[in-house]
Amino acid sequence: MSISTCSRPHTIMITREQSVFVKFMLCSFLLAIIRPSIAADSISPGASIKDGGDTIVSVGQSFELGFFSPSGTSTRRYLGIWYKSFSAGTVVWVANRETPLLDQSGLLKMTDQGILLLLNSTNCTIWSSTGAKSANRPVAQLLHSGNLVVKDESDSNTEKNYIWQSFDQPTDTFLPGMKLGFAHGLELFVSSWKSVEDPGRGDYTFGIDPRGFPQLVGKKGSSIEYRLGPWNGVRFTGASIQTPNPVYAYEFVLNEKEAYYHIDRKDNNSVPLRFQVNEAGLVRRLIWLEKTNKWGEYYTIGEDQLCDKYLTCGAHARCNINDAILCSCIEGFEPKSYRDWDLLDWSAGCVRKTPLTCGQGEGFVTYAKMKLPDTSSSWYNMSMNLEECKEKCLRNCSCTAYTNANISGAGSGCLLWFGELIDMREYPDIGQDLFVRMSASYLDKMRRKRKAEKQKQIGISVGAITLTMGVLLLGWILYGRRRKHKSRENMKNILEKYYKNKQNNNEDLELPVIQFSTITKATQNFSSKNKLGKGGFGTVYKGTLSDGQEIAVKRLSINSRQGLEEFINEVMLIVKLQHRNLVKLLGCCVEGDERMLVYEYMPNKSLDYFIFEESKRRILEWERRINIINGIARGLMYLHQDSRLRIIHRDLKASNILLDYDMNPKISDFGMARIFKGNQTEDNTNKVVGTYGYIAPEYAVKGHFSVKSDIFGFGVLVLEIISGKKNRGFSSQDHHHNLLGHAWKLWMEGRPLELADDMPSGSADESQIERCIHIGLLCVQNQPEDRPNMSNVVLMLKSQILLPQPKQPGFFGESSLLSESSSSGNKPATKNEMTTTILEPR
Ligand SMILES: *[C@@H]1O[C@H](CO)[C@@H](O)[C@H](O)[C@H]1NC(C)=O
Ligand SMILES: *[C@@H]1O[C@H](CO)[C@@H](O)[C@H](O)[C@H]1NC(C)=O
Ligand SMILES: *[C@@H]1O[C@H](CO)[C@@H](O)[C@H](O)[C@H]1NC(C)=O
Ligand SMILES: *[C@@H]1O[C@H](CO)[C@@H](O)[C@H](O)[C@H]1NC(C)=O
Ligand SMILES: *[C@@H]1O[C@H](CO)[C@@H](O)[C@H](O)[C@H]1NC(C)=O
Ligand SMILES: *[C@@H]1O[C@H](CO)[C@@H](O)[C@H](O)[C@H]1NC(C)=O
Repeated sequence: MSISTCSRPHTIMITREQSVFVKFMLCSFLLAIIRPSIAADSISPGASIKDGGDTIVSVGQSFELGFFSPSGTSTRRYLGIWYKSFSAGTVVWVANRETPLLDQSGLLKMTDQGILLLLNSTNCTIWSSTGAKSANRPVAQLLHSGNLVVKDESDSNTEKNYIWQSFDQPTDTFLPGMKLGFAHGLELFVSSWKSVEDPGRGDYTFGIDPRGFPQLVGKKGSSIEYRLGPWNGVRFTGASIQTPNPVYAYEFVLNEKEAYYHIDRKDNNSVPLRFQVNEAGLVRRLIWLEKTNKWGEYYTIGEDQLCDKYLTCGAHARCNINDAILCSCIEGFEPKSYRDWDLLDWSAGCVRKTPLTCGQGEGFVTYAKMKLPDTSSSWYNMSMNLEECKEKCLRNCSCTAYTNANISGAGSGCLLWFGELIDMREYPDIGQDLFVRMSASYLDKMRRKRKAEKQKQIGISVGAITLTMGVLLLGWILYGRRRKHKSRENMKNILEKYYKNKQNNNEDLELPVIQFSTITKATQNFSSKNKLGKGGFGTVYKGTLSDGQEIAVKRLSINSRQGLEEFINEVMLIVKLQHRNLVKLLGCCVEGDERMLVYEYMPNKSLDYFIFEESKRRILEWERRINIINGIARGLMYLHQDSRLRIIHRDLKASNILLDYDMNPKISDFGMARIFKGNQTEDNTNKVVGTYGYIAPEYAVKGHFSVKSDIFGFGVLVLEIISGKKNRGFSSQDHHHNLLGHAWKLWMEGRPLELADDMPSGSADESQIERCIHIGLLCVQNQPEDRPNMSNVVLMLKSQILLPQPKQPGFFGESSLLSESSSSGNKPATKNEMTTTILEPR
């Protein structure tokens, strides 16, 4: 690279053709001076592009090359390529990403040999293209694809003719026509910008890992963050959404010299598509939507922090996003540490139940619909078929699995693994077959088991059924008696039982029971100055443990009707719920009739403390608010469908959203309904737990609760966060509706943004705010079935998918219905206490 070599450029401002034209028409001469690049898509030696308006534009006006400053405060100048006719200004390539120009005197020119030079005001080269070949009459041309190529004027536009092309020097964007991987002697990968203001190379890269069988990986520095796996003829095995596409041809090329991924447009009118790795390391697949004039986000890699994340499950385990427990051992394997597995720590992975001996009779078990394990230490041969592949694997004792190396989609090719199988994932519909080696004794056992099952099926008789039922009945009666008896047992026995019930009772299980004395010491004997607040479930105190850790202790108020054992079991389950948007429950404490829950302490109090306070509202800028809405949505999605338990919160409200040091939201008080028991099902619901203003109609009126009643509460929260106003107690001069009614009225009148809190829009754009209002309204629909579920909400928030029109929300007016039908019951609401218990009106 000749980056800081200074040279004197010869600059001619007008091209030869233009100067000929001058003689005839002064008018167009002037035009050419003002906008000399107006139709040009190329520069030749002698011509140049100067900062301050000069650009070249590709045929069809799709891309433009020139100088720019990134958004924000940056004054640095870069030479780059961006979209022109749509999404104007979205930069796809930067030449001098590491060496910005400090003023607006940059100049791009081409030497007679066909080398592009970027010069600064002192005529020093700060960036240059390189080229092994040279041309007689070189020309640099910006193509319709966004590729800037240098070639001989007379040569056609094919890759082999290029002396240099910008597609060989990718920045953060992968476009159709580019190659990702190893091609013509180069490693081609995309890398994030340092920040939105600095196109310099950031930490995140996305490209092909050539070790073993080539696979697509996203990395931070040198460590893999997520792995899309090898190509299987249609898609990368770990890219769930990408499907064959009529407009683009996706392919993966693998031969002795090259291994690259490639997208080809089938015609020039294809929908614009790009992949971009952003500053946070997310790789987004974006498609230009003409209808909305926006980029639609179709698939984001690395966003799902669960199964997408590299090594979420350890070796020999598969991740399945649809399972209650994410990771499970593959057949014939068991957790290495049952204790960790129970605590939802899967990193240790699984081990074989019966080890391989490499003896006679070893064979394979088939796993369908898998994302293939990490191929970085695998072996392959593209000309072997599946049968030869199996033979080859069997013959080598250290071979643990095999499958097709189906890159071309022809179904042939052999891929072998040696050693551990890591980072597997299971899909409901896509994925590939994987054949995993099993010991002879295991296969034998399976065979016998299958045979026995068959015999059992055949030999089963009415007598057997009766007998079985009798035994079951007896067992059930005995079990019931034992249960009754058990609930009177003391805690010590329960704990002992708890340990015993675990499969691996020789391990030291950590039950999160915290001593009462520890708690009294930490909270200075529940001193009133340590009191953080009071809610429906009890009083919360701040405490500091002797090691300095700050905790929040919730002293549960009512005498729980639940037995001690049930209480501890529930706590055990809830302790395992872990998500960055949930407050972490550290443990519990039991003393006499008292029940206490111990949580991590959140320094920034709760959302209501900020959002409803005139003086503090502005701390929550729009970007933060959107982030909070997204966080709550993710936390709630985890509770509803991703966690091992399916939890309905039932008391979602601003005061139950706590904020950490960085103002990230964490949902608190989840699982309380389980801890309080008593109203688990619709049938025996006689009390409604919840808070005025957040309760869904069907819940308040009929006591029906479901995930959809949480969605209603979420919708109210969203509208409160956007407006900075409480739903309950909202007043307007124009009408008597509550906040929901107000939002609906503005929506119907076509001015939804007037709902938004009155403050500068900052970096959040208005359409984002409007989208939140739209989603908020969809969540507070009167009929539960009209409300989206949480995963839809998360998707709606993240992407540009079209939203349905909302209907009139539930509890539209100031809900006289609610006020009348509810009595203050056994727990009157006080000023400080937002949570209240309403008697069911039936
Ligand atoms: C131009 O680039 C050279 C080499 O990088 C550098 O030393 C010089 O300071 C730059 N001049 C200006 C005005 O930025
Ligand atoms: C850079 O080159 C231009 C054109 O040859 C010349 O006019 C200018 O004086 C040069 N600037 C410096 C600092 O050498
Ligand atoms: C696409 O457009 C370019 C420039 O107009 C043209 O050279 C090329 O042949 C077109 N390709 C197809 C497939 O239509
Ligand atoms: C791949 O397999 C074919 C067919 O079995 C064989 O002829 C060839 O030598 C193998 N190549 C390598 C590198 O093992
Ligand atoms: C088994 O495969 C490994 C890895 O390719 C190789 O190092 C080893 O020599 C092979 N062993 C036999 C017996 O072929
Ligand atoms: C190989 O890929 C093709 C599609 O590209 C698919 O139809 C076929 O089922 C695959 N074969 C195997 C054995 O996975």
